[in-house]
Amino acid sequence: MCRAMLLLIVVSLFSLAAEALDNGLALKPTMGWLHWERFLCNTDCDMDPDNCISERLYMQMADVMVKEGWKEAGYEYVCIDDCWPSHQRDAQGRLQADPKRFPGGIKKLADYVHSKGLKLGIYSDVGDKTCAGYPASRGYYEIDAQTFADWGVDLLKFDGCNMNWTLLGSGYIEMSKALNKTGRSILYSCEWPLYEWPYRQPNYTAIRETCNHWRNFGDVYDSWSSIKSILEWTASHQDIIVSSAGPGGWNDPDMLLIGNFGLSHTQQESQMALWAIMAAPLLMSNDLRDICPRSKELLQNQRIIDINQDPLGKQGFLTAKVDSFEVWERPLSKNRLAIALLNKQELGGPRGFAIRAVPGWKICNPQCNVTQILPQYKEMGVHNPQSKLVVSVNPSGTALLTVTPVTSAFKRLHRLEMAVKPRHTIL
Ligand SMILES: *[C@@H]1O[C@H](CO)[C@@H](O)[C@H](O)[C@H]1NC(C)=O
Ligand SMILES: *[C@@H]1O[C@H](CO)[C@@H](O)[C@H](O)[C@H]1NC(C)=O
Ligand SMILES: *[C@@H]1O[C@H](CO)[C@@H](O)[C@H](O)[C@H]1NC(C)=O
Ligand SMILES: *[C@@H]1O[C@H](CO)[C@@H](O)[C@H](O)[C@H]1NC(C)=O
Repeated sequence: MCRAMLLLIVVSLFSLAAEALDNGLALKPTMGWLHWERFLCNTDCDMDPDNCISERLYMQMADVMVKEGWKEAGYEYVCIDDCWPSHQRDAQGRLQADPKRFPGGIKKLADYVHSKGLKLGIYSDVGDKTCAGYPASRGYYEIDAQTFADWGVDLLKFDGCNMNWTLLGSGYIEMSKALNKTGRSILYSCEWPLYEWPYRQPNYTAIRETCNHWRNFGDVYDSWSSIKSILEWTASHQDIIVSSAGPGGWNDPDMLLIGNFGLSHTQQESQMALWAIMAAPLLMSNDLRDICPRSKELLQNQRIIDINQDPLGKQGFLTAKVDSFEVWERPLSKNRLAIALLNKQELGGPRGFAIRAVPGWKICNPQCNVTQILPQYKEMGVHNPQSKLVVSVNPSGTALLTVTPVTSAFKRLHRLEMAVKPRHTIL
């Protein structure tokens, strides 16, 4: 009786979360590789054959993903961004790949990627042209969806350039329906809110019903200031966006830069930690054929990936700003908590943060078990609300921790967890 009542209360509380797009995909944040940030619109295969947007690039990435442990770590989607098509549609009005750079065509590339046990992503745009000026899907939503399905494509990144903003929502919804109509499971990555924000607050209920993830903010660049601007935007809009994330649909803060040129290793750790806290899609944009071992180890760190992929599927958020530190927390399954302590003071050496100042530290009553994941793995032992534990964090670095409640709290927490469970089936 008592448990049933609790269940009812909890369920009605959480059922406010909107329904996700019902295509069975993205039950956890998408993991894979996407060409844009690293390879941009490089179409010069004569001068730069190794780095131009061509079928070779994706085949080589797929090869490396299998050989070098990426697939095993969970990275699954090999994704094409802008600049793949021919400037002309074919006689039937279908998009076609640039014949010089994709001599085998997309169907053959998809077959190749599938033969490696991976999935292929492609790119188009809801408007009249893609951002780089290639043919886009407006007026062709059904034809393009069917073409992608016929080719065996598994994911569509759908950009929002060259579109009257008043038509954005209807365009994204129309394409979502067109994808569904093909009968093929195609993960749908949108940029609807990014292009709508300049005009009005987007309707995240509608977006979650339509898309598997959605970009909210401008493109990531290979710099720490870009990462900071994404975190700042996310924190300042968290009251609007965080509750819209959950199994089936996620906020997308854009690609991982780890392994490129612009971030120090410490800053790469910060991106990985915060992307895990934000339940962000983990789409690397780097050159997997040539990546430094430390970056590779960071991207393949299973403990961080487990936080990102936590089955509870709740996005974390900024909970405190203390002494030039930002505290970000993410509730995890089994009543655990992930904590990221970001040192925003870009001056001096490592600084200590007193863990008691974390708002969520109250789960350590009466006791909790603390494990540090970044900057290095360290079991920090059992603590309580009065703990004197101090964590050291580099300038522009992040300490990532998990906290597990222990012992006498177990019974009470276990009951609560049982009560919360039905929520997953609702989402
Ligand atoms: C299409 O939508 C229906 C209803 O929401 C859903 O049951 C079905 O699985 C979807 N099909 C695909 C291929 O996404
Ligand atoms: C955008 O669409 C609206 C409504 O369809 C229309 O009134 C407006 O003129 C359009 N704006 C532009 C710049 O085309
Ligand atoms: C947002 O979209 C949902 C689902 O499509 C709809 O029911 C709701 O009325 C919309 N809200 C607003 C404020 O337009
Ligand atoms: C604390 O967590 C570590 C790492 O998971 C584990 O090895 C250890 O046994 C735990 N200690 C307690 C008291 O639960």
